[in-house]
Amino acid sequence: MVMELTPCRHPVEGTLRPPSDKSITHRAILFSALAPGTVRVLHPLVAQDTLSSRRLVESLGVKVEAGDDEWILTSPGPSQWKSDTTVIDCGNSGTTMRLGMGLLALSSSPRTLIGDASLSKRPMERVARPLRQMGIDVETSQVYAPVMVHNRGPYRGLSYSMPMASAQVKSALILAALGATTLSEIVEPYPTRDHTEQMLKQMGARIRMTADHHIMVEPLQDWRTLDLVPFRVPGDPSSGAFWAALAALIPGSSLTLKEISLSPRRIGFFRLLQQMGARIDIERESDTEDIGHLTVTHQPLGGVTVTPEQVPDMIDEVPLVALMATQAFGDTVISGAEELRVKETDRIQATVTNLKQLGAHIEERDDGMVIHGPTPLHGGSVRSFGDHRMAMMLAVAAAIATSPVILDDVSSVAISYPTFFEQYQHWQQGYAFHD
Ligand code: S3P
Repeated sequence: MVMELTPCRHPVEGTLRPPSDKSITHRAILFSALAPGTVRVLHPLVAQDTLSSRRLVESLGVKVEAGDDEWILTSPGPSQWKSDTTVIDCGNSGTTMRLGMGLLALSSSPRTLIGDASLSKRPMERVARPLRQMGIDVETSQVYAPVMVHNRGPYRGLSYSMPMASAQVKSALILAALGATTLSEIVEPYPTRDHTEQMLKQMGARIRMTADHHIMVEPLQDWRTLDLVPFRVPGDPSSGAFWAALAALIPGSSLTLKEISLSPRRIGFFRLLQQMGARIDIERESDTEDIGHLTVTHQPLGGVTVTPEQVPDMIDEVPLVALMATQAFGDTVISGAEELRVKETDRIQATVTNLKQLGAHIEERDDGMVIHGPTPLHGGSVRSFGDHRMAMMLAVAAAIATSPVILDDVSSVAISYPTFFEQYQHWQQGYAFHD
């Protein structure tokens, strides 16, 4: 659906609880399949991507009861998973497919994972190759989906230094490592989101992380020893980031994002906003959990350098960083962000093309972008390329433009943030948020 977005300078005010975290919801659903018994997931994100993970576990025989802001998942455990569904559709979801490859390595039935046109163009060999090293049979279609996973018998642990920083690849390997016969050791080039390690440890898995990014995973002898812990899903900082960006850009704004994940591996964008000059106040909700409230208050912004090690902590927010940089005084250089080229779309190319279309001074680099600010943005026609985060970044850009922006398609927001445009309209009508 095409949408015409009109400029709007209303300050962004009040308190907003962004939709629940996508990464944590995916994991709560997928990990529930490991433990024979019932796992409760409080505040799951109900969106197209997480419904793909739900479909995956249901095809293994997990029963899902959806209650009021709660899902109750009952699994027979990997040794009793159903074997009759051989093709599983992961939709647009890279997390479902990649973590799914690690999960499916735990059962002896062959299964094939397929995805939509975008997911079918994303690299899967990065998971297949190390899984094969463990002795699991994995076939890709010239590095892409469809992907067939078949565990033909006992397989060994793995010692693997990952060539790229990817939480999805790491998580797939950790899952497969649980079912191996020997210890596994995985090394990351830079730390990435560690929800998998934290959540599996909560369930009783023996996983040890070192300060130099080594992750040791002990095989699990018996799935029945896993604890059936409930998972409470906090708000998603990556969804909250769109509102934080608007608040940082529009004078007079001050917005609190309520109950969001404050995992250090997820809030790199907010740390960067602070470095650019925005005011960020953090109030933790608990001493033991990374969850709390984050307030963003508008202040003039300055350009900044984003280094390769900073990128994983803001991997999904880099298009927004580029937008912020168009309004900041001075140059912003983003490097080490080549992973963006293999997201739902090539996010470096899409960001540069779209922001140029609106008048930004931005240059494309193989591994990032250079942005010269500040430049007022004007209206024009832009394209989401079917990418939810591109559509929402462009909606933020449209608000600060000087004339209307025509966005070719907004349906992709259903992937992670189905209520985004309702809330956008609410703010455009001059209302504060009151969550
Ligand atoms: C995710 C990891 C990130 C991120 C994606 C979700 C996850 O991808 O971009 O949206 O839930 O593990 P990487 O595999 O590049 O870390």
